[in-house]
Amino acid sequence: MTTEPPSSEVQLTPGGRLRHFLAIENLPRSLLTEILDTAAGFVSVGDRSVKNVPLLRGKTSVNLFFEPSTRTRTTFELAAKRLSADVLNMDIAHSATSKGESLLDMLRNLEAMASDLFVVRHADSGAAHFIARHVTPNVAIINAGDGRHAHPTQAMLDMYTIRHYKGGFEGLTVAIVGDVLHSRVARSQINALLTLGAEEVRVIAPRTLLPADVEALGARVFTELEPGLRDADVVMALRLQRERMQSALLPSEGEFYRLYGLNEDRLRHAHPQAIVMHPGPMNRGVEIDSGLADGERSVILHQVTFGIAVRMAVMSMCVSGQESGEV
Ligand code: CP
Repeated sequence: MTTEPPSSEVQLTPGGRLRHFLAIENLPRSLLTEILDTAAGFVSVGDRSVKNVPLLRGKTSVNLFFEPSTRTRTTFELAAKRLSADVLNMDIAHSATSKGESLLDMLRNLEAMASDLFVVRHADSGAAHFIARHVTPNVAIINAGDGRHAHPTQAMLDMYTIRHYKGGFEGLTVAIVGDVLHSRVARSQINALLTLGAEEVRVIAPRTLLPADVEALGARVFTELEPGLRDADVVMALRLQRERMQSALLPSEGEFYRLYGLNEDRLRHAHPQAIVMHPGPMNRGVEIDSGLADGERSVILHQVTFGIAVRMAVMSMCVSGQESGEV
């Protein structure tokens, strides 16, 4: 599988409409803004007594999650249902892949059931891109997280949350704290923030949890927490991804919390109106203190709620792009 960022030709129709959503890289600011604006129109659907609109009636969306998930899988399912689509949740552990069926054969069979969308989470970087290059035309692929590479809908729901609370991106300083090395979320967030015009994106982590080419991401690097947090408007914590660590990159979780854990006291270095975000799942007492996670400045559960509307936007835009006749 390729870990090259997908070109805009793979993700967009010749007319510039979204047809697959695989990564933020190479997507124009106008398209990211269109996703946010489309999502804004869907937020109120969740407040209605009848929580759906008929946009994807008759369409079938398939959740293909080869890795565990709570938030992403359920909010994609809810998003599809709120768009009136039919939803299949593949139980990968009990599928014929456990009898040796290849990924591509599995996809061929799901295509034969007239599926319109595959939402894919996979441990291998490049998996969603690989699938997008092998599915028949008219099936849209949405990346729900691939290895360390990208988690573009998470980044877009984070952008939605920031725009909601801060009004826009111009002049904003955003600090991303924690395990950047293993984080597909951080990569997608940095790409989205820089494309949307944030003034400064910072990453804060010990050297062992920073990628070797971290400067190439376009973020300012800090190895100490307090100078990295100084006057930040948005502070995002990342989960320590123990399952992806092949060697001892940290002395202990206690030591990580002592040096990089977020709490009310440390947040005093950030802007007084700074918001606190976390993509989840959280390790309370490791990357973030419970008091801060549940406190007034935390928007963590709002990120989850906005995620439904953002995923509705991406799904409806991909299907519309596939149906535009431009693919
Ligand atoms: N943020 C996120 O991707 O969470 P899940 O692993 O629960 O989907």
